[in-house]
Amino acid sequence: MTKAPQGPGAGRFCIVLAALTLLVGCGGAGPRVSNDGRVAEAPKEYSREDALRMIRSSEGRLAPVYGPLAEQLVDDLDLGGKTGIGIDLGSGPGTLVIELCKRTEMHWINADINPHFFPFFLQRAEEHGCGGRVSAIQADAQALPFRDDYADVIVSRGSFWLWGDKVAAFGEIRRVLKPGGVAYIGRGLSANLPLEVAQAVRGGRGEGPQYDVAATAQELHAIMKSLRIKDYRVIRPRLDNEAGVNYGVWVEFRKSRGG
Ligand SMILES: C[S@@+](CC[C@H](N)C(=O)[O-])C[C@H]1O[C@@H](n2cnc3c(N)ncnc32)[C@H](O)[C@@H]1O
Repeated sequence: MTKAPQGPGAGRFCIVLAALTLLVGCGGAGPRVSNDGRVAEAPKEYSREDALRMIRSSEGRLAPVYGPLAEQLVDDLDLGGKTGIGIDLGSGPGTLVIELCKRTEMHWINADINPHFFPFFLQRAEEHGCGGRVSAIQADAQALPFRDDYADVIVSRGSFWLWGDKVAAFGEIRRVLKPGGVAYIGRGLSANLPLEVAQAVRGGRGEGPQYDVAATAQELHAIMKSLRIKDYRVIRPRLDNEAGVNYGVWVEFRKSRGG
């Protein structure tokens, strides 16, 4: 098994490795060792084709989703006029990052396991005037490459169902959040997305994603319990709406100031 680099040169090694990963365009995500010594499972390779497929969805069927979601996040998490660091974990094309960038003064990081998204993302950010306020870093949610207490906000849409060890990943999110920082993680749509738009988004994909929303909500409760996170809420937007559209499920939690 590959060992994480140790010693004084390790930081430089990681930077060179990250740069090479982006230049060569390979997945390159081997096993990672988190701060407390846990070794995450080596993730499967994520390809350029995966990235292109998701980019197409984000520009097509899913395009109406990101603006309202960003608006809701700014309102719910009180981000208007706020500075600091935000991370979108599993951001992929980074559309949510760009929408958040437009609505806040924060620096936003696209942290995704698949680096093939990054050239597209950085170009889009530049085109939208966000170039100086975004970054991209290859990151596995299960072993995040950020120091403790780094980020003010961590968001994620449509990614957590792909994280093999969700307890490890949510533990990492809590570790990286600043005390008092907030995370908003989930899949689906925001409550402010009009029903007819949500129907069109879901309709473009037959029955929509096949997963049990109630079971996923229970899973999120169980993860919070196992991490002893008390300050949280599981959100099921527009549950039981008249059209029966699946708006998904989210969890919002805060890192307590005590650690
Ligand atoms: C369905 S896409 C959603 C992309 C984006 N959040 C959106 O809503 O447009 C899932 C994303 O999660 C990323 N991903 C999957 N496993 C991951 C992991 N372990 N750590 C970080 N990102 C991951 C994928 O590369 C992909 O970009």
